[in-house]
Amino acid sequence: MKSVVCSVHGDENVLRVEERPAPDLKPGSIRLAVGAAGLNRADLLQRQGLYPPPSGASDILGLECAGSVVDAAPDVADPVSGARMMALVAGGGYAEEAVVDRGSLLPVPEIFSIEEAGAFPEVYLTAYLNLFMLGGLSAGGTALVHGGSGGVGTAAIQLAQEAGARVFVTAGTDDRCRRCSELGAEIAINYRDRDFAGVCLEATGDRGVDVVLDCIGGSYLGKNLTVLTTEGRLVVIGLMGGTTGELDLRRLLSKRVRIIGSTLRALSPARKAEIVSSFLDRFGDALQAGRLRPVIDSVYPIERVADAHRRLASGEAFGKVVLRIG
Ligand SMILES: NC(=O)c1ccc[n+]([C@@H]2O[C@H](COP(=O)([O-])OP(=O)(O)OC[C@H]3O[C@@H](n4cnc5c(N)ncnc54)[C@H](OP(=O)(O)O)[C@@H]3O)[C@@H](O)[C@H]2O)c1
Repeated sequence: MKSVVCSVHGDENVLRVEERPAPDLKPGSIRLAVGAAGLNRADLLQRQGLYPPPSGASDILGLECAGSVVDAAPDVADPVSGARMMALVAGGGYAEEAVVDRGSLLPVPEIFSIEEAGAFPEVYLTAYLNLFMLGGLSAGGTALVHGGSGGVGTAAIQLAQEAGARVFVTAGTDDRCRRCSELGAEIAINYRDRDFAGVCLEATGDRGVDVVLDCIGGSYLGKNLTVLTTEGRLVVIGLMGGTTGELDLRRLLSKRVRIIGSTLRALSPARKAEIVSSFLDRFGDALQAGRLRPVIDSVYPIERVADAHRRLASGEAFGKVVLRIG
């Protein structure tokens, strides 16, 4: 099968489309003929040698994909041959076939293209896990989402809105802010010319927000604390703004704030199955009805994987960059 690997690390030119043997079925798994795979920032880091796959995961790139069921392990009940499924994988998404743990699969809504399906699992499940399961966001609550224009950010806007929460975002240009507002963000703050903490405090009558979903890390630590309400939750999922920051612990104590670090990829298959199941219980109807739909920035054939990586790295993508595979 065709697959994307990088046996040496470096820039986009190290990416190779190679023939590899199809992976073996494992107990509890299903084989998909992959039609599309979403790109994620973790793939760029993996390519550069900065984010190795977890032990036991495929070295083929790709954390999410979608396709049709072609085979299943004998212990998998009710596999529907030909059914369209989308999958969270710890690696191996950029390939013509992927073997996926049964609990990491979601059914593809009829109205989704295969590219939309391939772009769904990683970002929606990340946004769901961190806003709701870990962040405890509830109807009527308020979230601040950094990177609102990205894959996770656009998913988080839709999920928060669907849940009846207020959602504020940061994005890097006025045009990107406008697009976040069109998606459902109540306030979109261009962080290059406005102080996001001041805007959020003003909009909440100085109360602050309940949850911050943060992909920036170090450089935002102090301001994220400023913007949280009493007993608020800061969920750190990315470190695009640095790995270290200074924290005034008095503010942590006086506000009784919680700081939570989170990575989806490294979780066990059993934990991922719980997250998928909880997501489908809560948002399955909205998904099937098309109220949750990935924003697709661009689609590239697998042979142009290097251009797809360049597009994501450029910082100009709005929403998801996708590889078309089968
Ligand atoms: N922990 C987990 O389980 C998990 C899972 C998935 C993703 N992540 C992480 O979450 C972050 C967002 O993921 P994503 O898929 O949404 O990425 P993405 O699609 O590339 O979006 C990231 C957005 O952040 C903004 N940004 C702000 N500062 C940036 C900087 N210094 N460098 C690059 N972009 C910057 C950019 O928009 P503007 O230019 O508009 O600001 C960009 O669109 C990444 O760090 C990713 O690794 C973590």
